[in-house]
Formats: sequence, structure tokens, C-alpha cells
Amino acid sequence: MGIVLGHFFRGVGEEPFELESGHVLEPLSKEEKAKQDRDWKGYPHGLVRLTPGRWLFPANFARFADRIYNFQIKSSDVFVMTYPKCGTTWTQEIVWTMRNNPNLDNPEAHKFIFVRSPFLEMDMLFHKPSLKTLPSWNDPLARAFIQFCPFKNPLNGFMLQMSQAIPEPRTIKTHLPFSLLPPTLLDVSKVVYMARNPKDVIVSYHHHCRINTMHDYVGSFEDFVQYFVDDDLMYGPYWLHLKEAWERKDHPNLHLMFFEDMKSDPLRELRKLNAFLETNLTEAQMENIAKYTSFDEMKVRMKASGFNEDILPAFKKDVIAADGGFFRKGESGDWKERLTPELDEKVDHWIKEYTTGLGVDFKFGA
Ligand code: A3P
Repeated sequence: MGIVLGHFFRGVGEEPFELESGHVLEPLSKEEKAKQDRDWKGYPHGLVRLTPGRWLFPANFARFADRIYNFQIKSSDVFVMTYPKCGTTWTQEIVWTMRNNPNLDNPEAHKFIFVRSPFLEMDMLFHKPSLKTLPSWNDPLARAFIQFCPFKNPLNGFMLQMSQAIPEPRTIKTHLPFSLLPPTLLDVSKVVYMARNPKDVIVSYHHHCRINTMHDYVGSFEDFVQYFVDDDLMYGPYWLHLKEAWERKDHPNLHLMFFEDMKSDPLRELRKLNAFLETNLTEAQMENIAKYTSFDEMKVRMKASGFNEDILPAFKKDVIAADGGFFRKGESGDWKERLTPELDEKVDHWIKEYTTGLGVDFKFGA
């Protein structure tokens, strides 16, 4: 067992400190913390703000930020980068399958997705990491940790160490923006960035924060929309996340795509990915992969592999029974069912203010 590294952040009252990325990390103000504590029950150790950017993370991010910034990248790596709820899991599965399972016959594909394609900064979401709770969170993950990280201490970053240790070619998921990741990321490896229209992101993120005890949102939908437009949700401003990617969109190692385009013509998007990833798949292989990664097929397969909210303790069974699980609808345009004209106007204002200048042209679904 190694020693537990990293800065333990105690929250309100603690002195701000500078990360290697150049961001200053500080606790929320008392007023902001009081508001967050009212609506969120899943952040027992509080949240921290990063300046510049106003990025918002659980306090545990302080422990891992510098190690993530210094993560050893390899030229065969592909990072799947998204703001939460933009279709990360879908993109991860597509990229992993194209690279590792083109004929859909790789037995590894039955393994839990985070074993095959780890979630880089996931450790910050474990609020009370302990040797008892961590590995038992999900057995396949615990077994994989023992396999890939023998004699390592899981408390020292369970997913972070797995991300480093899994064999090449690595397909790594992250919701972090470019500015918090290794500065040479695009020089060394490839990044697939998936974006989604903010209205559907809000609806999907709201659902996610209600079903997941790591967030445990108990406030109203109206307040959630306000949190979004105020950049006060975990992971911070979507517009800035997107801006950092958009500014790099002509870099040959970045492939930027949209959820809505993937929905409307998956095969066309897979062809583009095929060229970007240099996977040399045939049309027949891509057709099969498009079907294999469709919402209905993934929903069934992920459950069977252990990504099962009915079993995983991190999920709230009562909310899932009422409103659906992680694989909720997988559609574009569902926001029309949820956003009132007033809320819609609020998001339109946010779009106009923050993303129109970038040249991003969101599609809002049928
Ligand atoms: P909804 O909540 O709108 O259904 P992430 O993986 O970034 O958390 O994003 C989750 C969103 O992507 C959810 O959206 C989920 O249903 C959707 N999704 C997951 N797999 C999908 C697939 N194969 N096809 C379409 N949508 C998918």
C-alpha cells in the first residue's frame, strides 16, 4: 500500500491554493455554499471553484487535479471528452468498439465499460473513499483494479491509476475541459469531443443529478435551469467547456461532433470517425457497429455488463422507478416536453450571450 497523496480540501475557510494548471482553487462563499447545501445532498465535503473559468468541482478534485494535469499520455490514446450528458457513454462505446471490436467478437466487450474505457477523474466523485466502500462499489471494477494495479492503493485514485495502467490502446473518458488536462494532450494523442444542444443537456443532466447519489439534487427543475445558466452546476460552464474545444477544432488530432448529427445519421458520423481514428473499417463493419451502439442495444448490453442502476448503490431506485434510469430516452428534442416558454427563453438568452459568437450552430431536435 502506498501513501495517500494529494491535497485534502476542507472547504469553507480554507486558504485558496494554486494548481499546476495555473488555476486557483478556493472554497465557495458561505452564501453560495448555503444555497448548494439546500439543493444538493450529494456533496458532503462541499464544492470548490477554480479561477479563471469558474469551474466547479467536488472538494475531492483538489486531491487529484495536479496528477490529472500531469497524466502520462501515450500516442495511441484516444480521449473521449464531453461536458456531462452530451453522450459520453455512447461515444466511448463507439470509439472503443471501432478500435477494439470491429467484428463484434471480442470477449472483452462484455466487461463493464469503465474497465475497458476508464473515467479519468471519477475518483473525485467518491466522497468517502475507503477500502471497504471503494472496491465493492462494483465488483468488476475492483477485480480490474487488482489485475492492472497490483500492490497499488485504491484510495490513491482508483480510476486514475486504472486509466494509467490499462493496456494500449487506451480509450479514456473525461468530462474535464482542455485547460485542466495535460497541455500536450493534442500534440500526443487524439481527442473525440462530443457536443449536444444545451436544452437537451439541461434535461438530461437534471435527471442524472436526481438519480445519482453522488449529486442527489433535490431542488426544482426551474432552479436547475437557473444553476445551468449561472454556470453553477458541477463541471461549471458548458459554454466555456465547448469554447475551449471549439477554438481547437481545426487541430488534426481533435474530432468534434454533435449528438444530434449522430442521432440523425450514425453511419455518416462513423465514417468520419473511421477516417479520424484510422481504423480502416469496412462499410459492413460500420453498419454493424452503428446498430450495436444504438440506444436500445446499448441499454440492454450495459445492464448485463454491470452498468445496472437497479444494483449499483450509487443510484436512487425510487427516482429511477418513476422517471427512468441512466439510459433515459436517448433522443434529440426531448427538452420540448420540459422547458416552459419562460425557461426556454432563459436558455435562448444564455445561448445568444455565450455561444453564438463562437459560431456554434446547435440543432434542437425534431
Ligand atoms: P438522455 O438523458 O437525454 O436520454 P452521458 O453518457 O454523457 O452521461 O450522456 C447520457 C445521455 O446520452 C442520455 O441522454 C442517454 O440516454 C444518452 N445515450 C446513451 N447511450 C445512447 C445511445 N446509444 N444512443 C443515443 N443516446 C444515448
